[in-house]
Amino acid sequence: MIQTASKALFSTIAGSSSLKTLASRYGMRGPRSFARRFIAGETVDEAIAAARIIEASGLQQTLDLLGESVANMAEADAATRGYMQVLDKIVASGVGRNISLKLTQLGLSIDRATCVDNLRRILDLAQQHGFFVRIDMENSPFTQVTLDVFETMWQQGYRNVGVVLQSCLPRSVADAQRMNDLGARVRIVKGAYKEPRGVAHQDKAQVDAAFLEIMKLLLSGGTYPAIATHDPTMIAAARTYARERGIGPDRFEFQMLFGIRRDLQAALSSERYNVRVYVPFGREWFPYFMRRLGERPANVGFVVRGILSER
Ligand code: FDA
Repeated sequence: MIQTASKALFSTIAGSSSLKTLASRYGMRGPRSFARRFIAGETVDEAIAAARIIEASGLQQTLDLLGESVANMAEADAATRGYMQVLDKIVASGVGRNISLKLTQLGLSIDRATCVDNLRRILDLAQQHGFFVRIDMENSPFTQVTLDVFETMWQQGYRNVGVVLQSCLPRSVADAQRMNDLGARVRIVKGAYKEPRGVAHQDKAQVDAAFLEIMKLLLSGGTYPAIATHDPTMIAAARTYARERGIGPDRFEFQMLFGIRRDLQAALSSERYNVRVYVPFGREWFPYFMRRLGERPANVGFVVRGILSER
């Protein structure tokens, strides 16, 4: 209940352009700025530096050039070109080739056909260089269209691409079965957005139960699923389920967000599980940052302490 209310509050704040402007001015200043705990930096070079540190400690990474809900086709085109430059930089740097992106960043809410074209441009370049591209899942008005765009790509023969399903949506059980039938790679998450009653489970116990159900479906019948959570109960259940069924740790991976439960990331990796850290970066970090605050109100205290301790 508290989490639902805080998600609602922070999603409202995320939409405030004046706060965004203010935060953008101060949030990333200096190496100890408050947003840096969750965001690797504003430039791809900073993200690559973070990726190097992650890889040096035995973890893998996926880089996400932050951005969503662009306002026009010119911005969607700029985001697409931005991603293509990121791919080039990653190739030149030698860090692992794995990215995450959002379709509204490529123009989905303006014109679906153009978004598909933009995604294809990225996937072609990604394919050429052996990248895996994860399409993040956004809020529920975009669920069906995101899966449709994914399937369009899949039918056109792209295999270097995967999706995300959210256990807060009751439909995700059927979607997971569909993805298993296709042989597509799925990242299962609980869901970061404030969703209306009727569309999504409102009760944490239901979200968790659905997470376990989908996680099992993916482990048993899916293709290299990603179990993306910081919840020790979900992680323990995944480990037990995999062990009891002889599903080796090479057949799935755990994923966590940059700056969250680094202790757990390291512990799992030391036990020879594959762990991938989602590394967000870029100038458009405000909505992502607000979602992280909304998930855990204690983070607000962390941010306030950070601001107060800055000179
Ligand atoms: P839960 O929220 O129950 O938290 C469990 C525990 O984890 C907490 O008690 C706390 O210890 C820790 N924790 C969780 N969030 C924290 C935070 N912000 N700060 C500090 N500690 C925190 N969502 C989505 O809708 N679409 C997407 O594409 C993605 N992609 C994605 C990728 C990856 C790699 C991850 C890990 C997550 C996502 N998410 C996402 C976000 C996801 O839906 C969810 O909002 C968060 O992971 C928080 O949920 P947990 O599963 O961690 O559990």
